[in-house]
Amino acid sequence: MSNRLKDKWALVTGASSGFGAETARQLAAMGANLLLGARREDRLGQVAAECLERGAASAHIHKMDVTRTASVNKFADWAGATAGRVDVLINNAGGAHGVERVEDGRDDDWEAMFQSNALGILRVTRAVLPLMKSHPGGIILNIGSIAGRVAYEGGSAYCASKAAERSITKSLRLELNGTGLRVGTIDPGMAETEFSMVRLKGDRAKADAVYSGVEPLSAGDVAEAIVWAANRPAHVCIDEILMMCTAQAAPYKVCRVEE
Ligand SMILES: NC(=O)c1ccc[n+]([C@@H]2O[C@H](COP(=O)([O-])OP(=O)(O)OC[C@H]3O[C@@H](n4cnc5c(N)ncnc54)[C@H](OP(=O)(O)O)[C@@H]3O)[C@@H](O)[C@H]2O)c1
Repeated sequence: MSNRLKDKWALVTGASSGFGAETARQLAAMGANLLLGARREDRLGQVAAECLERGAASAHIHKMDVTRTASVNKFADWAGATAGRVDVLINNAGGAHGVERVEDGRDDDWEAMFQSNALGILRVTRAVLPLMKSHPGGIILNIGSIAGRVAYEGGSAYCASKAAERSITKSLRLELNGTGLRVGTIDPGMAETEFSMVRLKGDRAKADAVYSGVEPLSAGDVAEAIVWAANRPAHVCIDEILMMCTAQAAPYKVCRVEE
């Protein structure tokens, strides 16, 4: 497979764990330069060190919170000063908070999901686009979810925030037509990362139960799809990828084999 990512500048949000960290590691193995952001700076530092070991051309970290415009703008200024350009933007930061039905839903959970999963993508893209527009062939990949396509009980706000991601991706694809920039969405189903611990507020037993009796996607599986899409030639845009583990046919249809 041709390597079109060597020496390219890739910016990954939510690079401190899960899909974002693994995407950074796989981009590193392709010889990319990395600009990594998230709120946990110590974890970003660990990921950056691993990226350098794996062959990254360079790996830079900066703390950022996608729910705050000032933080995002500061991060983009830092990216501009560090790299002067961005070729690959991976809008990955986000997650789910809570599994309550609407009648029991909490404002802070709803707001956190829309802030990161929908508004965060808008903010980061607005701030980073000036670093991409003069470089045709660049690519923006947003991380959506099966939840953005199929609603399920207890997922109203998460599903809606990911449906918003899908619409944002489509609008951007239209708006950037003619610039040479590509835009796509990678939509995974169930994957084992820190996602369920965050969603279930640190309840380890409940988080483990999500993956019980099933082999879910790994962060590596999803990162492979992200990096493959980013590595297509400049005239090829992967508009969307929907991927689930074999045992999952819908958010609510998972075949579990209990021992
Ligand atoms: N795992 C799944 O089953 C699954 C399926 C479909 C889609 N997704 C989506 O995939 C993306 C990555 O999730 P994951 O599974 O890799 O979960 P994860 O392991 O919990 O990683 C989430 C990442 O997002 C970062 N993040 C969260 N809120 C942030 C904020 N306000 N500002 C900056 N960074 C923030 C976290 O870093 P800090 O905490 O250090 O800020 C972390 O690096 C999310 O958008 C999620 O909705 C996950």
